[in-house]
Amino acid sequence: MSGGSFVVAIDGPAASGKGTLARGLAERFSLAHLDTGSLYRATAFLVLEAGGDPADAAAAERAARHVTPALLGDPRLRGEAVGAAASVVAAIAQVRRALLDFQRDFAAHPPAPPRGSRTRGPRTRGPRIRGAVLDGRDIGSVVCPQAQVKLFLTASLEARAARRLKELRERGEPAIYEAVLLDLKERDARDTLRHAAPLRAAPGAVTIDTTALDADRALESVSQLIARSLDAAR
Ligand code: DC
Repeated sequence: MSGGSFVVAIDGPAASGKGTLARGLAERFSLAHLDTGSLYRATAFLVLEAGGDPADAAAAERAARHVTPALLGDPRLRGEAVGAAASVVAAIAQVRRALLDFQRDFAAHPPAPPRGSRTRGPRTRGPRIRGAVLDGRDIGSVVCPQAQVKLFLTASLEARAARRLKELRERGEPAIYEAVLLDLKERDARDTLRHAAPLRAAPGAVTIDTTALDADRALESVSQLIARSLDAAR
């Protein structure tokens, strides 16, 4: 285990359902959760706020070093412009290095989960285990290659575009399907083809295609796997 902690690594492209699954698993098994995309979004946000260029490696690295945990929950990180800039700063190796220790430290020393969250669903035996769910693009391959459970979520581009469109409209942002599809395609290309920690399934990862799977069914199917792994780790 990572410094005595139980780690679930979830990777996959944008809108593959990994965030929803990660939150659901964290709540169900009383694990801490880190959405690592928010670190890259926070970096991009700080660069944009300062009027900088997200492709400027020195400015982006400086911003990455100024990311604070308090900024990670800021709703301004969720906008599309910040998301697009995040995929630019995420391709810069110095930025990835600057954010690595925070992620590894979170995995090794996860904060206590919020009060009131407790284990539901599949029964697990024995004492409660300290652990964390991290979701992103390189968690199983680079950040936590020793994770007890590694998942790689995929879904068709069209299904992901439809989900993202729904999300944007629910937030009251005007969006059209074709533009969302094109944006996801560009983001996939940047995340997959970049030199630094490209998006790919880590060795040993279980791949789950969520194209025809709703969030509840994805959570149920993965919960069995986590429950078995938790029992084995005790
Ligand atoms: O999951 P998201 O859309 O919030 O991620 C924002 C960007 O950050 C995305 O383009 C990919 C990048 N990212 C990354 O490179 N590595 C991670 N572990 C998480 C996100």
